[in-house]
Amino acid sequence: MHIEKEITKTSPGFIIVAETFADIPAREALLDRAMGPKRRKKSSEKLRRGRRPSEGLALIARNADGSVLGTVRLWDVRLGEGGPDALLLGPLAVDPTMKSGGIGSALMRHAIAEAGRLGHGAVLLVGDAPYYARFGFSAEKTGALAMPGPYERDRFLGLELVHGALDGAKGVLKAAGRKLRTERTRIAA
Ligand SMILES: CC(C)(COP(=O)(O)OP(=O)(O)OC[C@H]1O[C@@H](n2cnc3c(N)ncnc32)[C@H](O)[C@@H]1OP(=O)(O)O)[C@@H](O)C(=O)NCCC(=O)NCCS
Repeated sequence: MHIEKEITKTSPGFIIVAETFADIPAREALLDRAMGPKRRKKSSEKLRRGRRPSEGLALIARNADGSVLGTVRLWDVRLGEGGPDALLLGPLAVDPTMKSGGIGSALMRHAIAEAGRLGHGAVLLVGDAPYYARFGFSAEKTGALAMPGPYERDRFLGLELVHGALDGAKGVLKAAGRKLRTERTRIAA
């Protein structure tokens, strides 16, 4: 689906647009370069496998040539059995040759703004608190929540887009996203 016109954001040297199916090979190669082969073994992967990213929340940073410089996706999850819906963010990655150029921050800010605009209540992620704190993420309200597999508790972070959206949230996160068609499952996350 091509919806670039709707959500294009310009910054010096790159733009942020909706990811398209044609971006997938370049995105996969970028993730291998930025994160290495262990990226597929994360607990977050259990919530992404076989699912499509949340509608409108798979974003790419491109340069003027159209090359993929960065990527972020957000996924629909449920907070515990019968609990409220939320988003799980990840992976976020920037081409290693472009690090510290503001691309990661621009992707994060754009993703958070879009998620809020689309009416989502909260975003969760597993990542480095010193990086994600600048966008408002903290472990303050994730203590009674759990990922479906091993993770480091102090890296399990949340951000409320709607005040109080994580109040009383408890239980194991469950995948709640749209199912991926079979032929695309292998290149899901
Ligand atoms: C983490 C990542 C997405 C940041 O993207 P980026 O475009 O390099 O970051 P930005 O330019 O927006 O921000 C750079 C700032 O973030 C800081 N930063 C980057 N990674 C950090 C981390 N893991 N922890 C704390 N600070 C970090 C930099 O030191 C820099 O600080 P400064 O602004 O004070 O100079 C990118 O480095 C990356 O792809 N890393 C490999 C994959 C990864 O670790 N993904 C996130 C999983 S937690």
